[in-house]
Amino acid sequence: MPEHYIGLMSGTSADSIDAALVSIGDDGDLDLLAWHEHPYPDDIKAAVRALAVSGADEIKRVMAVDQALGAQFAAAALAVVTQAELKPHQIEAIGSHGQTVRHQPNQAPRFSLQVGSPAMIAECTGITTVADFRTRDMAAGGQGAPLVPAFHETVFRHDGRNRAIVNVGGIANVTWLPGVPQQPTLGFDTGPGNTLLDAWCRRHTGQHYDHGGAWAASGEVLPALLATLLADAYFGSAAPKSTGFEYFNLAWLENALTAVTPAPAPQDVQATLAALTTTSIAQSLQALGQVDEIYVCGGGAHNPVLMTGLRAALAPVSVATTQDLGVPPDAVEACAFAWLAFRTLHRLPGNLPSVTGAAQAVILGAIWPGGTAPVMDVEDFSDGG
Ligand SMILES: Nc1ncnc2c1ncn2[C@@H]1O[C@H](COP(=O)(O)OP(=O)(O)O)[C@@H](O)[C@H]1O
Ligand SMILES: [Mg+2]
Repeated sequence: MPEHYIGLMSGTSADSIDAALVSIGDDGDLDLLAWHEHPYPDDIKAAVRALAVSGADEIKRVMAVDQALGAQFAAAALAVVTQAELKPHQIEAIGSHGQTVRHQPNQAPRFSLQVGSPAMIAECTGITTVADFRTRDMAAGGQGAPLVPAFHETVFRHDGRNRAIVNVGGIANVTWLPGVPQQPTLGFDTGPGNTLLDAWCRRHTGQHYDHGGAWAASGEVLPALLATLLADAYFGSAAPKSTGFEYFNLAWLENALTAVTPAPAPQDVQATLAALTTTSIAQSLQALGQVDEIYVCGGGAHNPVLMTGLRAALAPVSVATTQDLGVPPDAVEACAFAWLAFRTLHRLPGNLPSVTGAAQAVILGAIWPGGTAPVMDVEDFSDGG
């Protein structure tokens, strides 16, 4: 009998919750039955962003976001259950990544903190909830990130061709899938994906992001600024490595901009940030090994400036989106966390030591049992919540 799992994901962009409902068959085959995006209310977006830097009353503020997001995640899960025309008791478990508010794998104290109360998700939905995936990998000495490459390996690996999966979220990460099973899957965070583009766009236009990359397309890449940005030690450092918006943010950009006189036009900076994303991804892929085909997922797949930039930097290798492999680019990470919940309940490891640097493969996550009646009314979320 196939089992149903829900994956909930919100990345560093803090834009929305991606929810996916999948069925996983006895043979391990995964089918995507429904998925949807549940946008964050503006006050939650702002509260999450404010937590990227230390400040007064941090514990209270982080727990307020934890509670508010728990309810949002539960609503997103129930909406996708309704969309699939299922009932909560038919779902084995929810895998919830949570919202990262701090990720510092290399600096003492080493930790990665995701919020979005799993207790609240289990209580509101009545569905067993698996969360807190990163901490066990970190306890085994790993970066705790990225965790999606194991899922990419399971669903996207091709016998005979080396594939790369490029996830352009707030932070971008790459997975290199060898065409022969003897070689290990590799992967790491390449650096900023959309996070600097979003922050710069917000500051200068008031929009949450540069829709269609139109604003970036109106500017010109500034080669000297691009070189300065690429000189950051993160880009050249060896894997395993992972990063977050507490490092790549406006303060990081402004630091590089102080050296540029006269101050460049904002749209030229935007164009340069797009080039930073595509160049750092291309350089990372070139360092990983021979790649025969590349598939992009994450919100960046919708930005033509990023897609064109990647194609130009990686030609003649083909650059498509994961849609061509049967998974919509916005659903890949949510599917990964549904799959990771399946791995946890079946007591199977979820991390790849070749990616995170952990000493061993471990069972990830903690389990908040369900089986209770859902407290939220499922029908309330039939319109997408
Ligand atoms: N149509 C679009 N045009 C340009 N950028 C887009 C578009 N759709 C999504 N994005 C970008 O994708 C980001 C969200 O990507 P996502 O994969 O959800 O990131 P995360 O995993 O960090 O939440 C948005 O903040 C935006 O920068
Ligand atoms: Mg997102």
